[in-house]
Amino acid sequence: MDKKSFYITTPIYYPSDNLHIGHTYCTVMADAMARFKRLQGYDVRFLTGTDEHGQKIQTKAQDKGVTPQEYVDNIVGGIKKLWATMEISYDDFIRTTEPRHMKRVQELFMKMYEKGDIYKGAYEGWYCVPCESYWTESQLAEGGVCPDCGRPVQKASEEAYFFKLSKYAQPVRDLLAKGEFLQPMTRVNEMLGFIDQGLEDLCISRSSFDWGIPVPIDDKHVMYVWLDALSNYITSLGCPYIEGGVEGDVEGESDAALFKKFWPADFHLVGKEIVRFHSIIWPAMLMSAEIELPKHVLGHGWILIDGGKMSKSKGNVVDPVVLIDRYGVDALKYFLLREYTFGQDGAFTNEVMLNRLNYDLANDLGNLVSRSVTMIEKYCEGIVPAHSEAASEDPDGELRALALGCHAKVEGHMDKFQFNLALEDIWEVVRRTNKYIDETAPWVLAKDEAKAARLSEVMHNLAESLRIVSVLIFPFMHTTSSKIREQIGLSKEPVWEDALVFDTYDGEKVQRGEVIFPRLDIQKELAELEELRQKALAEAEGKKYEPVKEDIEFDDFAKIDLRSGVITKAEKHPKADKLLVFEVDLGFEKRTIVSGVAEHFKPEECVGQHVIAVVNLKPRMLRGVESNGMLLFGETPDGKLKFAETAAEAGSAIG
Ligand code: MSP
Repeated sequence: MDKKSFYITTPIYYPSDNLHIGHTYCTVMADAMARFKRLQGYDVRFLTGTDEHGQKIQTKAQDKGVTPQEYVDNIVGGIKKLWATMEISYDDFIRTTEPRHMKRVQELFMKMYEKGDIYKGAYEGWYCVPCESYWTESQLAEGGVCPDCGRPVQKASEEAYFFKLSKYAQPVRDLLAKGEFLQPMTRVNEMLGFIDQGLEDLCISRSSFDWGIPVPIDDKHVMYVWLDALSNYITSLGCPYIEGGVEGDVEGESDAALFKKFWPADFHLVGKEIVRFHSIIWPAMLMSAEIELPKHVLGHGWILIDGGKMSKSKGNVVDPVVLIDRYGVDALKYFLLREYTFGQDGAFTNEVMLNRLNYDLANDLGNLVSRSVTMIEKYCEGIVPAHSEAASEDPDGELRALALGCHAKVEGHMDKFQFNLALEDIWEVVRRTNKYIDETAPWVLAKDEAKAARLSEVMHNLAESLRIVSVLIFPFMHTTSSKIREQIGLSKEPVWEDALVFDTYDGEKVQRGEVIFPRLDIQKELAELEELRQKALAEAEGKKYEPVKEDIEFDDFAKIDLRSGVITKAEKHPKADKLLVFEVDLGFEKRTIVSGVAEHFKPEECVGQHVIAVVNLKPRMLRGVESNGMLLFGETPDGKLKFAETAAEAGSAIG
C-alpha cells in the first residue's frame, strides 16, 4: 500500500537581508513536523524557499550597485547555508526567480484571465513600499501609517491589472466560517471581520518597476508580488502542468505526479501578519483557477525583542548563527520549540534561553544520560540487562506507564502544533526517570549482593526509559537523539512504534560518550553575548576590527613596560622638522623621549599632557639626540594624532 502523504510549507522568505531568529522559528517548527510525520511513516514533502521579486529588492540591489539577480543570489546562498547548518530537512527549495516557477505563474495568470477574473483598471491607494501592499484609507493605522509595519505610506496611482477578489468574498467567508481551514480561531475572527468590511479587488500587477514576472498579456507590467509568491506552493509541485516540464523541475517529477501526490497541502505555516494573504487571497486565487484548496493555514505568533519587532537599527536582531556556534543546533531548536506557544507572540531574552538550556538540557536530559550510562557500565559491565518480572518493584510500574503513555500525548499535541506541550510531556518522562534513580538508589543496591537482580532491573528500566526518550525527541533534536542512542548501544534510526513498547531491548553494549549538553555559566554567557551584540552593532555601522599588525603572543606583550608620565618640556628637534624632543616626568626620573609628531602638535600645547610611555625600549640616537622610550598616540580616522592619555599618577605601570 502507498504511504500516506503529508505536505507542509513555510512562507518563502524575502531575501532582502540575512534571516534572524524569528524566521528560523517558523522553519524549525515545519522541520520538526516534517520529521515527526516521517518518523510516523508518512511520505512527507516539506517545502521552503525565497520570494525574490519586488520593488524593495530592486531598490536594495540598486543601492548596492549590483543587479537584482546578483543581489538575491548572494542572500539566498546565505539562507541555504543557514538551513544546512540547522539541518533543516526540506525536500524542495523554490526560488521565485526560477523558470519552473515563473512559467507556471504566467500560466496561472492566463487561467484566471481566461476565466474573466482579471481585468485592467487604474489603481489608486496608499502604498507601503517595504510591505509592497496597497491599503485603503480605512485600513490605515492611526496616524495614517501602514497597519502592518507602522511605516509611512504614499498615495499612488497607476494602470494595473486586478483580480476580482470581491467575487470570491462569500465562498472564502464560508470556508473560513467552517472553522477548519484557518487556525488559531482568533485569526478566523479577524479575517471574517476583514471580509465583512468589504473585500476590494486586488491589484496584481505593477508597471513602476520591472523586477518581477512579466504579465503574459502586457509586457509593460510585472506581476504584483502576492500572485507570484503564493503560487510557489503549487508551482514547485509542477502545477499548472506544462507539457514536457520546465527547466529546473525536479528530475523525473515534471509530469504533475508530485502535484497529484501532495496537493492539497496539509499545512501552510505562516506568521500572523501574512495570514490575510494565505487565508483570503490564496483560496480565492485557487477558486478562480479551479484548483483544490489547501487543507489548513496555521498562523503563528512572533518572537519579540524588548516588546517589539527585531530591528537592525535598534541593534536587537538575534542572529541564529551566533547561538548555534555557542550552544549547538539542537539547543536552539529545543529552545524555540519548547519556549513558545503556537499562535501566540513570545519574548526572547538571552537569559530565558540560557536558563532553558541549563535546566532542561544540561541538568535534566544531559544528567540522565550520563548517570544512566555510567551506572550501567559500573554495575552491569556495560551491558543492558534483561527484564525480570521477579525483580520488579514499586516505582517501576509508574515509570513504565509514564514512558509508555507519552507517545500518545505527544501525538495529540503534535496534531495541534503544540510543540511546547509535546516537549513538556517528554520532559516529564526525563524528570521522572531522574527521580527514579534517586528513589531506587542503585549505589545502595550495589553494596548488597542479595539485591543484584533488583539492581539489574533498575538499570534495565533506565535504559528502556532513555530509549523511549530518544525516539520521542527525534523529530525535535535528531542529532541529540542519535548521540543518546549511540551511548545506549542502539545504532538504528528509530521508528515511531519504538516508543510504544517497553522491555524490548537488552544485551546491548552501552558506551559513555561526550557530555551532550554542558552546563553553562549564565553570567559569563550573558556578558559574552552582549559583547558579541555590541561588536555586531559596530560592524553594522561600518566599524569593523581591521588588524593592522600581526597577532602577538601574550609573552611578547608582557615584555613591554608601559608607564604613565607627564610632559614637562617640549621643543622642536634642532636638526629634524618632523621630530619633537620631550622631557617626560615618569615619577622616578625625568627622561628625554623623541617623537615624530611635530606635524601634529605645537611644542607649547604638549607641556602638561599626561601620556603613556614605553620605558624599556633600548635607547636610540635620533639625529643626534638620544631617545629613551616611546610615547603612545591614537590616530583619528582623518589621520590626526591625539595623546593616549592616562589619569594614572606619573610612574605608575599601565597594563
Ligand atoms: N515573502 C513573504 C511571504 C510570502 S509566502 C507566500 C514574507 N517574507 S518575510 O521574509 O518577510 O517573512 C517570512 C516569515 O517570517 C513570515 O511568516 C513572518 O511572520 C516570519 N517572521 C519574521 N519575523 C518574525 C519574528 N520575529 N517572529 C516570528 N516570525 C517572524 O512575508
